[in-house]
Amino acid sequence: MVALSEIERKALIDLANEARRRAYAPYSNYQVGAALRTRSGRIFTGCNVENASYPTSICAERVAIFKAVSEGEKEFEVIAVVTANGGSPCGSCRQVMAEFGLDTLVLISDEAGHLLKETSVAKLLPGAFTPKDLKV
Ligand code: THU
Repeated sequence: MVALSEIERKALIDLANEARRRAYAPYSNYQVGAALRTRSGRIFTGCNVENASYPTSICAERVAIFKAVSEGEKEFEVIAVVTANGGSPCGSCRQVMAEFGLDTLVLISDEAGHLLKETSVAKLLPGAFTPKDLKV
């Protein structure tokens, strides 16, 4: 797992918080922001984007990950997630994170920028179903 300095942590959390301000969450009113750093050093941000047809809404983490993959990046070092209260990534986002590596560091922060939890995809999704499981 990547080792991050305090400054790197704060920079990523700040970017996630900035992305959170762009959240489109008129139904839940629960804004989420994410900032993902790739092994190559690029950063992709995301926010949740809801829809009047509720199930078509998408989480901030998946927006950031899908943006990265669509730009040719598939190796991720760390993802920061910011919500008002330091909420945890949902199961669908954990599964999408797991697709690209169980070692990715996950920083969970509240809107004041307090880092509430520092964990990994492996810890968030024990026993994950990954691409390896399809190789029989
Ligand atoms: N949400 C995220 O963006 N990420 C998560 O991991 C948890 C939930 C969003 C989805 C929805 O727009 C709102 O938060 C409330 O569930």
